[in-house]
Amino acid sequence: MLPIRRDLRFDLPPERINNWHAAGPHISVFMNTLSLFFPVGERFFIHSVRHYRERIKDPELQKAVAAFIGQEAMHGREHEEYNAHMFQAVPQTVGMERMVARLLGFVQKYTPASFQLSATIALEHFTAIMADGLLRDPAILEGAESHYAAIWNWHALEETEHKAVAYDVWRAVMGRNPVSYVIRVGGLIVASVILWGIAISFHLRTIALLGELGNRSGWRQFFRYGFTRPGFLRKLVLPWLSYFRPGFHPWDHDNSEFLERIRPLEYRYAKTEREAQPA
Ligand SMILES: [Fe+2]
Ligand SMILES: [Fe+2]
Repeated sequence: MLPIRRDLRFDLPPERINNWHAAGPHISVFMNTLSLFFPVGERFFIHSVRHYRERIKDPELQKAVAAFIGQEAMHGREHEEYNAHMFQAVPQTVGMERMVARLLGFVQKYTPASFQLSATIALEHFTAIMADGLLRDPAILEGAESHYAAIWNWHALEETEHKAVAYDVWRAVMGRNPVSYVIRVGGLIVASVILWGIAISFHLRTIALLGELGNRSGWRQFFRYGFTRPGFLRKLVLPWLSYFRPGFHPWDHDNSEFLERIRPLEYRYAKTEREAQPA
């Protein structure tokens, strides 16, 4: 599977930033909180994969790495625009993104490259299972504002397309042995605890800043959406655990059928609507 870099733009309407999801602001802000991690996180992924680039002998994997870097760079660019809308609406979120950047800067400076790559493949696993959940069940984005739905769809599709690239780099440089297994699953545990700890605190803080912390029906909607129907968060648990299988590979779970949906999206968003209608 060779990923392709696509230069798409989504023209997100800024006024909908905290209420683009049909299930209300609590879900919208939750997804926005994840977006806060993307531009800096994706730069971290690129850096950690690039570090091992010279050691990759397989020309196909070399090509896949170049495409992976291209895709993550495009995601970073579009989520920067996404986050800029958030910064406008809730200026305190600027500090949140900065905190993630500082944390990742610390990891880059003080931990071995192998740990950084293990954190990358762990977070790529996480994005891949979220993407699978989102693509599998149309209820996840049902009724969402169309531009926001499109950027999440596109990101989910490309995360699926390149879900094994960083992992294959890991296998090529670390091999399959007990030590690489321990670093790999250790990376997932550490990355998950840190990611969720930070994401939950950002979510609560942003909801509080919007004055929605006491909105019980908003929280009910959030928990229903996350844990019962459609149960987006509940459905992540089993796929998350699959990573602990010693022989795990991202394509053990073949969901490549979703990739057929990329083409229509490419066609629609290759040019921005603003560009298409000159002022
Ligand atoms: Fe990405
Ligand atoms: Fe990715």
